[in-house]
Amino acid sequence: MPSLVVIGAQWGDEGKGKLVDYLTSNADCVARFQGGNNAGHTLVVDGVTTKLSLVPSGILHAGTTCCLGAGVVVDPHVFLKEVEQLRSAGVQVDADRLLVDRDAHLILDYHRILDAAREESRGGKKIGTTGRGIGPCYADRASRTGVRCADLADPESLREHLQETIEQNNNYLKHVLHSERSISFDEVWNTIDVAREHVLPFVANVSLFLHEALQVEKKVVFEGAQGTLLDQMHGTVPYVTSSNTIAGAATTGCGIGPSHLDYVLGVAKAYTTRVGEGPYPTELEDDIGAYLGKKGHEFGVVTGRSRRCGWFDAVAMRRAVRLNGIQSVAITKLDVLSGLEKVQVCIGYTLDGEDIDDVPALASDVARVEPRYLEFEGWDEDITAATKWHHLPPQARYYLSTLAEIIGCPITIVSVGPDRKQTIFSRHATFVRNFYEEADTSSAS
Ligand code: GDP
Ligand code: IMO
Ligand code: MG
Repeated sequence: MPSLVVIGAQWGDEGKGKLVDYLTSNADCVARFQGGNNAGHTLVVDGVTTKLSLVPSGILHAGTTCCLGAGVVVDPHVFLKEVEQLRSAGVQVDADRLLVDRDAHLILDYHRILDAAREESRGGKKIGTTGRGIGPCYADRASRTGVRCADLADPESLREHLQETIEQNNNYLKHVLHSERSISFDEVWNTIDVAREHVLPFVANVSLFLHEALQVEKKVVFEGAQGTLLDQMHGTVPYVTSSNTIAGAATTGCGIGPSHLDYVLGVAKAYTTRVGEGPYPTELEDDIGAYLGKKGHEFGVVTGRSRRCGWFDAVAMRRAVRLNGIQSVAITKLDVLSGLEKVQVCIGYTLDGEDIDDVPALASDVARVEPRYLEFEGWDEDITAATKWHHLPPQARYYLSTLAEIIGCPITIVSVGPDRKQTIFSRHATFVRNFYEEADTSSAS
């Protein structure tokens, strides 16, 4: 059985959680490979909503093992809260079905403090982070000063390490950032106690676990967080997150080789949204933008901030297809476009009078590009009950088939509402449909 990587192809919040939950009905494992609780993934099953920040979106399927790979950053308080919430909703969550890699880094109190202080010090140039300590935690990982789950097993060394780190960071806060904020060792140690009691029991060797699962052809879904344009290297730098969000990160973030990745599904909204600061060529700061925001309930799951809305951006999407090696696309929230007289798609950018093929590298240039649009007839029909491709109005089908041509990639799934069942396969969906339908037939299952 093959493995499937599901990644966001825009600026996050594309509906990855919904798609992962849907496609996991017959999967053995779902693994997150990057990000932390800056993610907010929404699952709706028969009208009941579950919001997840850390726990992978396969958790509602009793037979699925969920993993947090080494590339994920884990806030112990958030992990505990999410496990408790799931348990109180009747979901079985124990160390047999939720595994946290021993090499995953912990988000500690000072990462959140540093995140806030750095944003403050940026003034008008702030990134608009989620404030969850993500950037500082990844910075510590790169500087080799972070704390891994494995370190929880050696409290004496950890105490010594934290005393040193906290002293250094307090100096940095005071003398470099000129911040009033400071870090209390006791509070950090309290978080370590929480982690030792509530995270350590879930700590395992995820790399080995997944390797063994893939060796016997178990079905594995790799669940991306954030989106391609928020990738720390390939996104709209510096207005990005601090991890690689593209499909290739599934291998480094889970400790498995690239030969284990069989198929990459990119998830994109039928329009675009963005939370936080940063250039956004197709942004609509008008009534249509407001319409999309209201109809699409475009508010961040994590911070509750309004998401900025705009037209579909095929230039950015072609970049996403290339960076991820996307083999097919799931288009979500098509229902939100119903009721618009005209729908537009950005098919090219012009910069200083010249047509350009890709998103520019400088944020200041991305902010200056002039999008060139193709206009489509809209449709009025409510499509939320559509279950087949041919149930969609002809204008919607034309919109989708033209999109596929413009981005050079087939569309295999269309989502017409938040619920698991509001999902349609296209006739091109052989791989994803089989992945969804076929139960695991491996001898070891
Ligand atoms: P993720 O971060 O990519 O998992 O996406 P989020 O959960 O942050 O945001 C997607 C939002 O759109 C959630 O509120 C979903 O319930 C909702 N959603 C997903 N697919 C659809 C769809 O096809 N139509 C509508 N109307 N809502 C959808
Ligand atoms: P999911 O997985 C949308 C954005 C933040 C900010 C930038 C950096 O739900 O799609 P960070 O806290 O990561 O340092 O913030 O990245 N961002 C997201 N936007 N969806 C997300 O996750 C995001 N995670 C981070 O708004 O602009
Ligand atoms: Mg989200």
